[in-house]
Amino acid sequence: MTNSLLAEVAAAVADGIAVADPALTGADPLVRPSERADFQSGAALALARRAGRAPAELAGRVAEAVRTDLLAGVRVSGPGFLELTVAAPAVWRRVAARLAHDDLGVPRAETGRRVVIDYSAPNIAKELHVGHLRSTIIGDCLARVLGRLGHDVVRQNHLGDWGTQFGMLIQYLDEHPEAAWRHGDLSGESSVSALDRLYREARARFDADAEFAGRSRSRVVALQSGDPATIAVWREIVAESEAAFRQLYDRLDVLLTPADSAGESFYNDRLAGVVDELTRAGVAVQSDGAVVVLSATETGPDGAPVPLILRKRDGGYGYDTTDLATLRYRVAELRAGRILYVVDARQALHFRLVVEAATRAGWLPGDVEVAHVSFGTVLGPDGRPFRTRAGDTVTLGSLLDAAVERARAVVAAKNPSLDAAAADHVAELTGIGAVKYAELSTSRTKDYTFDVGRMVSFTGNTGGYLQYAHARIAAILRRAEGEPGPVVDPAADLHPAERALALALDAFGDTLADVAATLEPHRLCTYLYDTARAFTDFYEACPVLTAPEPRRGNRLALCRLTKATLREGLALLGIAAPERM
Ligand code: ARG
Repeated sequence: MTNSLLAEVAAAVADGIAVADPALTGADPLVRPSERADFQSGAALALARRAGRAPAELAGRVAEAVRTDLLAGVRVSGPGFLELTVAAPAVWRRVAARLAHDDLGVPRAETGRRVVIDYSAPNIAKELHVGHLRSTIIGDCLARVLGRLGHDVVRQNHLGDWGTQFGMLIQYLDEHPEAAWRHGDLSGESSVSALDRLYREARARFDADAEFAGRSRSRVVALQSGDPATIAVWREIVAESEAAFRQLYDRLDVLLTPADSAGESFYNDRLAGVVDELTRAGVAVQSDGAVVVLSATETGPDGAPVPLILRKRDGGYGYDTTDLATLRYRVAELRAGRILYVVDARQALHFRLVVEAATRAGWLPGDVEVAHVSFGTVLGPDGRPFRTRAGDTVTLGSLLDAAVERARAVVAAKNPSLDAAAADHVAELTGIGAVKYAELSTSRTKDYTFDVGRMVSFTGNTGGYLQYAHARIAAILRRAEGEPGPVVDPAADLHPAERALALALDAFGDTLADVAATLEPHRLCTYLYDTARAFTDFYEACPVLTAPEPRRGNRLALCRLTKATLREGLALLGIAAPERM
């Protein structure tokens, strides 16, 4: 495991501070990347008062006290900043060290915490919508990054596979034997869109016809009490939907497997116990024949505490109860140290209430962290929430098809010499990569506009730009194929563009740690984009294959490390990095 240069420089400055003024031992050296040098420290400004000295004077003392051969220069600038320049041999040694590690020298967490990530979670018998696409892609990226850092990641797909809507749907199917929905008895329409349509028909009937509504309610009771005929149809519906989700998961190359599915039905047997326990603990109370938890902190528009509904007046359990049972299971049985819910921002209140109730019940030990990794809405070209069915049905599959189709044209224009099969393959990888990158590269809390044309472009901060940068380096390296691995000579000179690229590459591990702490994948995207641009600047300024040794070897090493970093970074975003495009 290799610390970053930033971490090592920070440690050296911390030592310098302690030597300059022992009373400041342990103070944060506040080292950051800088435009004017490699790094800067504002510690003297922050600590001047404590030290009883002018900032510039303190900075001067620290500068003199910093002793490390990592740094070629420590200068005081402005009111008391330290500007820190890394010595060229230290930069080259770092490139060599990262290249020598299979894992690029990115440290693993010392204590792998178990992290449960709740993501994707589409609803059975409904079409996947864009919100689930966001959850799926963001959740999958976090699962990859946290896993890479050594955490013990447990993926959980909280499928919406239970509840009153199934009573309605199964009753409707029973009364309409002619309603073809199974795979095989359909022409064109997928079984999930057939179910989605039938579900909406059932709902309309339920609202309009009291007798049908009554029969549907009995059907819910039959389902929940395990009536074999009802369960058999329910299973068939779940299997059909899951198969459709799976196809999309495979195409998106997400990590979720059937073993990760623990839908709402999984918790059915635990719901009564949850309500009993919360009632006995005095957390849940009776209200109007229902059992609820009244929030101590959240109030509604009328000023009354917002309730979490544990048991409805008709005795039924719902989404709230299920989430409490789920949280309890994840803490007590999965032994989670951190629980992440990658769910749309509109459910923020729901999760606050669930966490509050679980905390009051004593189910959440203080060292277990629960975070709602919320995200904004996907907007259509009209700036309004993007719907899967804006007039016509726009399924996720067709969205992906559209992206791949556009990518095909871009790929063909960029590289007309690819044969047809290779072009198809690359178009699929860039089209899917483009959609995923667009999702991940915007701050997740913001809304973003689904714009296929912009997504598949190869210029700007896009997936295609990064994939192309990677393929371009692959092409350079192919020209040096068969040569022994480059030998890095730390004594060689260091061009500013080489320095900038090497420092960018060195920050990979820090970036991953940052993503793990903030749960914001766009930081990794920005990092990769900046790194790819640093490579472009380097490649323009520094010839590689035609340079004399030792420069040539050092530059080849930079190429290899850049390629490995882009490839690994894209893999952590769940995006393929083809060797040729
Ligand atoms: N199925 C839900 C929906 O479509 C999302 C479930 C999120 N996870 C959870 N534990 N509530 O809105």
